[in-house]
Amino acid sequence: MDSFLLARLTEWLDGYIKGFYREDGPLQSNILLKEDHIHRVRENMATLAGDLGLGMPETALGEAVALLHDVGRFPQIEAYGTYNDAASVDHAILGVLIIRREGLLSSLPKDERRRICQAIALHNKYSLPPRFAKKRLNRMIRDADKLDILRIVSAHHVGDGQNPALDLGLPHLPGYTPKLLQDVIEGKMALMVDVASVNDLKLLYLSWIWDINYPSTIARIEKEGYMETIMGELPITAKIDCLRHTVRMRLSSSSLSP
Ligand SMILES: [Fe+2]
Repeated sequence: MDSFLLARLTEWLDGYIKGFYREDGPLQSNILLKEDHIHRVRENMATLAGDLGLGMPETALGEAVALLHDVGRFPQIEAYGTYNDAASVDHAILGVLIIRREGLLSSLPKDERRRICQAIALHNKYSLPPRFAKKRLNRMIRDADKLDILRIVSAHHVGDGQNPALDLGLPHLPGYTPKLLQDVIEGKMALMVDVASVNDLKLLYLSWIWDINYPSTIARIEKEGYMETIMGELPITAKIDCLRHTVRMRLSSSSLSP
């Protein structure tokens, strides 16, 4: 991957997204939100590549994955009005189909095409299948993506506006599902199938602390205070205090890792 192809992909993406632009309204603001997200994920990838000491071809490959990882989001929100994959379509698989249909990577060697498509197809899965779990690009995009999603959701939960797309259409209820809280405390990733309210969704995001691959990502999450913000928007109970302790311990562990 060279900077010339990366520039061509950037240009293609720009035109592709503009094709989904609408007059102002909820659809347009959600399209702009994802467009901004993609560019921030690309910045996160470049930063992470720097943290990992990667050279230019690998950094460009990472940036290409970031640029293309959410192309499926645009037809998804247009057709279904939601970003909830379970209620619509797997946006990662849809993205890979679009990349292939458009021949975006046809000038690349087969191995690079495969690595990019694999990282995109797996970026939104609950966990990486064991045989793909050690592949660097697969791990990097999941960190870069989560980092920006945490920025978006933490800002959303303290903001006054309610964006149903970010709440995945879930109801605002006063309590939460105890199993989800227990999952976070026990070091497990929460399951979307257990999420029944916006508070549950916050717990699911908190559980991501157990699915971050690189210490530098943990350090950035801690520095930006994303988890603290999300925890501040949960009910005040002794159990939540326990959760807060667990999350803080995990975040501070990044300084102990190599
Ligand atoms: Fe995505």
